[in-house]
Amino acid sequence: MKKGTVLAALLPLAAAADDDAANSQIRIAYHGDDGMMVSWNTFDHVARPSVFWGRSKEHLVNVASSAVSVTYPTSTTYNNHVLIKGLKPDTTYYYLPAQLNEDVCYEPFNFTTSRKAGDKTPFSVAVVADLGTMGARGLTTSAGTGVSGNNVLKPGEKNTIDSLISNMGGYEFLWHVGDIAYADYWLKEEIQGFLPNTTVEEGYKVYEAILNDFYNEMMPVTASKAYMVGPGNHEANCDNGGTADKAHNMTYDLSICMPGQTNFTGYKNHFRMPSDVSGGTGNFWYSWDSGMAHFIQLDTETDLGHGFVGPDEVGGTEGEGASPVNGKMNAQIKWLEADLESVDRSRTPWIVVGGHRPWYLSHENVTGTICWSCKDVFEPLFLRYGVDLVLSGHAHVYERQAPIADLKIDPRELDNPSSPWYITNGAAGHYDGLDALQSPRQAYSRFGLDTANATYGWSKLTFHNCTHLTHEFVASSDDAVLDTATLYKKRRCVDGGRGGGRW
Ligand SMILES: *[C@@H]1O[C@H](CO)[C@@H](O)[C@H](O)[C@H]1NC(C)=O
Ligand SMILES: *[C@@H]1O[C@H](CO)[C@@H](O)[C@H](O)[C@H]1NC(C)=O
Ligand SMILES: *[C@@H]1O[C@H](CO)[C@@H](O)[C@H](O)[C@H]1NC(C)=O
Ligand SMILES: *[C@@H]1O[C@H](CO)[C@@H](O)[C@H](O)[C@H]1NC(C)=O
Ligand SMILES: *[C@@H]1O[C@H](CO)[C@@H](O)[C@H](O)[C@H]1NC(C)=O
Ligand SMILES: *[C@@H]1O[C@H](CO)[C@@H](O)[C@H](O)[C@H]1NC(C)=O
Ligand SMILES: *[C@@H]1O[C@H](CO)[C@@H](O)[C@H](O)[C@H]1NC(C)=O
Repeated sequence: MKKGTVLAALLPLAAAADDDAANSQIRIAYHGDDGMMVSWNTFDHVARPSVFWGRSKEHLVNVASSAVSVTYPTSTTYNNHVLIKGLKPDTTYYYLPAQLNEDVCYEPFNFTTSRKAGDKTPFSVAVVADLGTMGARGLTTSAGTGVSGNNVLKPGEKNTIDSLISNMGGYEFLWHVGDIAYADYWLKEEIQGFLPNTTVEEGYKVYEAILNDFYNEMMPVTASKAYMVGPGNHEANCDNGGTADKAHNMTYDLSICMPGQTNFTGYKNHFRMPSDVSGGTGNFWYSWDSGMAHFIQLDTETDLGHGFVGPDEVGGTEGEGASPVNGKMNAQIKWLEADLESVDRSRTPWIVVGGHRPWYLSHENVTGTICWSCKDVFEPLFLRYGVDLVLSGHAHVYERQAPIADLKIDPRELDNPSSPWYITNGAAGHYDGLDALQSPRQAYSRFGLDTANATYGWSKLTFHNCTHLTHEFVASSDDAVLDTATLYKKRRCVDGGRGGGRW
């Protein structure tokens, strides 16, 4: 680009923060097929966050601005959010936030807008859940006392963030179905003697540093692929990543729940998911279309409705003490029903739902891991509206299940089932690694990987056409596909062609 045009407008900000690791954490999110939300962090408040953008790298002739530069107590940064509107679907644009943390000359970044609903071109997306910070404050080749050798990286092992970066050409957006960064593990990491340079007394610094590390590590992906996120318990956790570990007689004190964790505060500050254009609530429940698929993000943590208290709410099973994020009676399930009702299956034949907690999983039947109240509120709607695939994480394992309805395995399996297909993949990796699947596995289990396999990985979904959808488990260490399965749905395809077409 021509220096002195756009770059003259860069306002280098003082880099004098406690946390020298903080960078600009650029992330983008779809906002319909004609918009993109650009978000980034700065050390100082920005009065008018702005993004230069254009169709050509050399001419970022447009500027989009907002007044949204927000933070919370203990955060070392401000979260800036600017919506770029009036874009064309499935089109590449270049952009550059005007205020960045580092006084360096960035080349413009680029993104491609969402495919128009009804575009029948095959495409793939990447999905992760339970992905934490990598490196010195997260998952690395060692961990603190009590962590199994299966649950750390081998020397030189490629981690999930590395794998997502090196495979960026193979997917259109990244969907993170809850548990982002695991900053709440700071206390567990301190107690397990993993953090040599900091103390429990400096908790908030460690907490914020883990978050900053994560968002910086993800930036190579999130600055050019839409990063769609949903809430997990670790966005609200006040038990500091299982510090109330009876085996080690550890207790916890809710008074050291970090401000960023209480009531999902950090999560609310950091992201702007497209709930305003899908009738949802914040970053908690919303939907979007891309090509031949309708994607729905649900909140399994709060606001379940039908009188159920969400697991993270005051009085919930995990004692996190969060308040309902919407609070109106049955707000989420009323929204879900209306959203499902409105899907035009000739345009978006596929409906894929993501929610953090599973209910079909080969795991000991313990409340907290298995969310029976989620099943009670959500499953009837999935059945009534023919949801195709349900994705979850929460348990740090990979398990592909059979299509199933109310505990009954669909006899057609993947050959045109009438029940939704379920997949849990919480094996992306975080500070203390992987969990165990129950043995023997549930009758509906079709493939599984757990701590015994010491394999981290992510999910790749490929929408071939209106009848075939493939799920792959990609091992992060070598990008090998360790499990692949294709769902067939018998339906008449309406030929939308590329870019939509007439209906
Ligand atoms: C968009 O950005 C990515 C990541 O920096 C880069 O690899 C790619 O070449 C860029 N694409 C275009 C069309 O400039
Ligand atoms: C602790 O400090 C050393 C020396 O500066 C550094 O190499 C190391 O990465 C730090 N560890 C953590 C967890 O921050
Ligand atoms: C935990 O506490 C119990 C009772 O105080 C004691 O018997 C046990 O040895 C302790 N376990 C550890 C791992 O310290
Ligand atoms: C969460 O928000 C509610 C309502 O805004 C407030 O009453 C409550 O004290 C907050 N919880 C924490 C732990 O800060
Ligand atoms: C699981 O446990 C719950 C109680 O927590 C019970 O209501 C339910 O029937 C159990 N389900 C199965 C499949 O064992
Ligand atoms: C995972 O580990 C189990 C236990 O060692 C083993 O039986 C199984 O074959 C492994 N799965 C894969 C795909 O390697
Ligand atoms: C849909 O895609 C699948 C998988 O690639 C392929 O086998 C099938 O023939 C395709 N169907 C049509 C109608 O093109």
